[in-house]
Amino acid sequence: MQHAEQLNVARRLLNLIDTQGTDRSEAPYLQPVSEYIDLGVAAREQEVFFRRQPLCLGLSNDLPDTGTYRVHDLAGVPILLVRDLEGRFRAFLNVCRHRGARLAEACGAARGFTCPYHAWVFSLDGSLVNRPDEASFAALAREDFGLTRLAAEEQHGMLWVCPTPGQSMDIAAWLGNLGPELGSYGLGTFSHYASREITRRMNWKLVIDTFLESYHFCVLHRDSICSTFFQNLGLFDAYGQHFRLVSPRKSITTATAPAADDSWSVLPHTVIIYILFPNTVVVWQGEQIELWQIFPGSSPDEAVMRLSLYSPTPALTEKARRHWDRNLEVVLNVVQNEDFPLGEGIQQGFHSAAQSHTVFGRNEPALAHYHREMTRALAG
Ligand code: FES
Ligand SMILES: [Fe+2]
Repeated sequence: MQHAEQLNVARRLLNLIDTQGTDRSEAPYLQPVSEYIDLGVAAREQEVFFRRQPLCLGLSNDLPDTGTYRVHDLAGVPILLVRDLEGRFRAFLNVCRHRGARLAEACGAARGFTCPYHAWVFSLDGSLVNRPDEASFAALAREDFGLTRLAAEEQHGMLWVCPTPGQSMDIAAWLGNLGPELGSYGLGTFSHYASREITRRMNWKLVIDTFLESYHFCVLHRDSICSTFFQNLGLFDAYGQHFRLVSPRKSITTATAPAADDSWSVLPHTVIIYILFPNTVVVWQGEQIELWQIFPGSSPDEAVMRLSLYSPTPALTEKARRHWDRNLEVVLNVVQNEDFPLGEGIQQGFHSAAQSHTVFGRNEPALAHYHREMTRALAG
């Protein structure tokens, strides 16, 4: 976050603390329960959100060196992320052009990909470079059987992909005026420490909803994060469909007063959450970045997600690893033991006839914005 915006954020936060306020929307919002359970809605979401639009599938350091690759399966199509020998980020469908086998698994470094089925070989730029018994295929030009490319762009230290072949994207336009602020964190300089893939019995949007208000901090999280943050107090700012939430840490009240001097920073006294519409959550947690990629699972009642933790410098010592392991455990404990079990109960209740709508209060403006934008996008 740029310094001028940090001062603005600090001023607004201190004002909310003084007045015991929080950013509020104009009116409460009624959210249809059907959007969390309906098969038709889920199918439309796949088409609109997870096929045509850019998706953030990681940060730059997920592919640390030239020749590194990583598979990505959460989006519902098999994707292969590659940093080629020139350092350029590329994305392909992870599908051999001979008979369709998966070319790569997990992650690693390679000079090319040899198919495990009949050993066709593809280079890191996707070209087909060798096929055993060439004479049997000579009537089919090699150039026509390269890996299927997906639009891929590395911007602000983030890896963006559009999962449908032939579909183009423009990340600067997609992020709009949020781009420069995201750029200010230098996400590309962070090191990938660890990732966890998680499956839960709740709709994917319900996973995102857990990040979107501080009204529950000292109720659900009374024994965990309540002592660090303020209850029901935070900033909300929309950037088109994307948006930002800032929750102050209690340390902000004893910090030195905001100063024009560049060395003063509001960041250590906050947790800042960016929602990159529709399914990416970037969390600035003082010293670390968490990236949450959240996708629909096999039904509207299932979410699959990948949490990745990035540290400002590589964890090279045992002491550093202990530190980041502990941070990862803290994050996982709160969501896995507190937020997600509660969300799974909500999902079950959605299938009862208890109510046609749930309620977002004026103190939950991010929830209203998120779901209003989602409904609008699906209707369009
Ligand atoms: S399926 Fe890949 S070489 Fe045959
Ligand atoms: Fe929570």
